[in-house]
Amino acid sequence: MRVYVTRQLPGDAVDRLRAEHTVEVWPEDRPVPPALLRQALREVDGLLCTVVDHIDADLIAAAPHLRVISNYGVGYDNIDVAAATARRIAVCNTPGVLTEATADLAFGLIIAAARRWWEAERLVRERRWTSWSPTLLVGQPVARRTLGIVGLGKIGRAVARRARGFSMEVLYTGRRQPETEKELGLSWCSTLEELLRESDIVSLHVPLTPATRHLIGREQLALMKPTAILVNTSRGAVVDQAALVEALRARRIFAAGLDVYEIEPLPDDDPLRELDNVVLLPHIGSADTTARLGMTELAVENLRAVLNGRRPPACVNASALGL
Ligand code: DGY
Repeated sequence: MRVYVTRQLPGDAVDRLRAEHTVEVWPEDRPVPPALLRQALREVDGLLCTVVDHIDADLIAAAPHLRVISNYGVGYDNIDVAAATARRIAVCNTPGVLTEATADLAFGLIIAAARRWWEAERLVRERRWTSWSPTLLVGQPVARRTLGIVGLGKIGRAVARRARGFSMEVLYTGRRQPETEKELGLSWCSTLEELLRESDIVSLHVPLTPATRHLIGREQLALMKPTAILVNTSRGAVVDQAALVEALRARRIFAAGLDVYEIEPLPDDDPLRELDNVVLLPHIGSADTTARLGMTELAVENLRAVLNGRRPPACVNASALGL
């Protein structure tokens, strides 16, 4: 069968795939131009794509033989799952293998934003550091503060585990999870508003869906403490970025740490770039060697399983397809 892979991937799983199928890999380190992707999809049975490839209903309709879309990432908001399901195309993702990497990055952003590492790093590099000072770059404490987790899935729980090492009180909202509460000593908030009011640090771990788009907007930011920190490693559009810029500019919250944006890459003239109370990373939550190899293995295995008539290990529309 024919397979198209939209990026070169670390590890040798794609080479192993070549032993079974005819595989074409887009050789460049930039997204496949939409017209080329559309052309490639006319022929293929399997697609291995990344979270920057927009696989919409129109593209799916232009892929008559397609049986599986295997996404290199846990989030799959880049794929029209309903359109794929209607065509009985399996949509697969890579949960689990990037949990620790993303939680590490979220926790790093918490500390970096709270302790103003971005400003501090610039001070040293730009040779503006003149002396130790009792008032130099004083930030917010992290240990023993209250962390609010929005979205207590695998990554949210992994962040909560890290917070225990910092003796933090951890709140969460969403579906109640009594076992996890007991295991990790968490407290449940019945509403997002309550969590935002109580937390010193808020970390977002929800998938992007119509219900979570702009979950954090002007009203929600207004509920946060003036000393609070917002960290987003989920999807940019979970936060109303214009409202966040306003809140940061007016110092209505202390700082933010962002790995994801409403538009990626962040446009050159984005006002976030001008603010000193935000740490900006280029969507690298899962970018450690273990996670990336795990993602390759799982994405390839998902694809192989569907093409070889087996149940894929991680399929988001498995029940709709009766897999
Ligand atoms: C994901 O997995 O959804 C990330 O955004 C990319 O690793």
